[in-house]
Amino acid sequence: VNRRQFLIRGGVAVGTNMILAGVPFRLAHAEAVVPASDPPTSAWTWDDVRAQFDLAPGLVHMSSFFLASHPRLVRDAIAEHRRELDANPYHYMEDNIARFEIAVRDAASGYLNVQPDDLAMTDSTTMGLGLVYGGMKLGSGQEILSDTHDHIVTTLSLRCVAERTGATLHRVPLYDDPATANAEKIVETVTQNLRPATRLVALTWVHSGTGVKLPVRQIADAVAAVNTGRSPDDRILFAVDGVHGFGLEDVTFDDLGCDFFISGCHKWLFGPRGTGLVCARSEAWAATGPTIPTFDPMWRGGKLDSIPLAGLNTPGGFHSFEHRWALAEAFTFHLGLGKARVAARIHELNRHCKEELTRLPKVKVSTPMSDDLSAGIICFDVDGLSPEEVVARLREKSIVASITPPFYKPLHARVAPSLLTSEQDVENTVRAIAEL
Ligand SMILES: Cc1ncc(COP(=O)(O)O)c(C=O)c1O
Repeated sequence: VNRRQFLIRGGVAVGTNMILAGVPFRLAHAEAVVPASDPPTSAWTWDDVRAQFDLAPGLVHMSSFFLASHPRLVRDAIAEHRRELDANPYHYMEDNIARFEIAVRDAASGYLNVQPDDLAMTDSTTMGLGLVYGGMKLGSGQEILSDTHDHIVTTLSLRCVAERTGATLHRVPLYDDPATANAEKIVETVTQNLRPATRLVALTWVHSGTGVKLPVRQIADAVAAVNTGRSPDDRILFAVDGVHGFGLEDVTFDDLGCDFFISGCHKWLFGPRGTGLVCARSEAWAATGPTIPTFDPMWRGGKLDSIPLAGLNTPGGFHSFEHRWALAEAFTFHLGLGKARVAARIHELNRHCKEELTRLPKVKVSTPMSDDLSAGIICFDVDGLSPEEVVARLREKSIVASITPPFYKPLHARVAPSLLTSEQDVENTVRAIAEL
């Protein structure tokens, strides 16, 4: 009996208001969060989907990847949890924490096609990266390989662990010009930089500074080939910041082939703001140690030894539980629409947008055209205008574009066609950029 079966079977057997291994578990609340709105189906149109969001009308929302707006299903779940927490925080927490934490993990595991016990739940990508890299058990002779295109939070986490353990951080650019990035060359560059001392490869699925999507599966296969014959302690672990592919691409954890998948859930997935996860099998989890003490339900039952490693790596403490527990509905939302349909829609809009932008003589698109090397972020520049000017002038035209953060060099303007934009929005954006 694993811990999930333990909690659930125990709950079913004992009934309402029981104390289960120290966890009060009131089944009267089992249906407490009945979403007021229906979950989506594959029959929904994209207009139906867009209507689920409270985004300001009159704007073209081309930066939705930055921080999620919540669809109605998620908003209703947050509101319901908040109402209950405001009414009686103690009983709502004590009666439900185990059940809701399990429900969220179950939903995430269904989406990634992994076991719930492979998942640590976090507050953000940044928290996940900090936990995994910060706690990594590295030795002073060992090496970490990463890319110069990573978000600064990856670089800072890796610098911290290198400083703490004496491991060496080796950062290489996996491509020079993003527009001409090439999957074979990227894999070759990774392979050439794997050395006997390499213990960790820490990369980013989709670079938010260029829009390039790395061929994660091919990199995983190349790492696996080098791992043949290595002892478990020397095996290279491959970790990925996946935030700009998660909730967008139609893949499972196994499809990606990495050891650690680290992501926020509050960008493409439309999860509650302040949610994230880390997925890894127990062999990989064993390579990192927990940093923040857990509140795993088993801990409350005094069964510390039974907590899976992912549970030990799930930070405890009191959180904004109304957000944390409403994450289950974000997975319901995406699975209701269909992962394949979501991916096809976002890629189609992005392809069209890039094709139109490349027709403009004074616009340079940096993000590759290929679906294999790009996802939902388009980085571009306009001759004679700084990215800041481009974004400011688009704002005057009611288009919400963004600038790559300052730690990325060179800076670019960005637009991101998504489930929250229509074909017309893409047309209007391209026209507005043409007018610049
Ligand atoms: C590639 C990448 N990783 C990590 C982050 C930080 O994400 P979070 O807010 O979930 O910590 C960002 C921010 O947008 C990002 O672009």
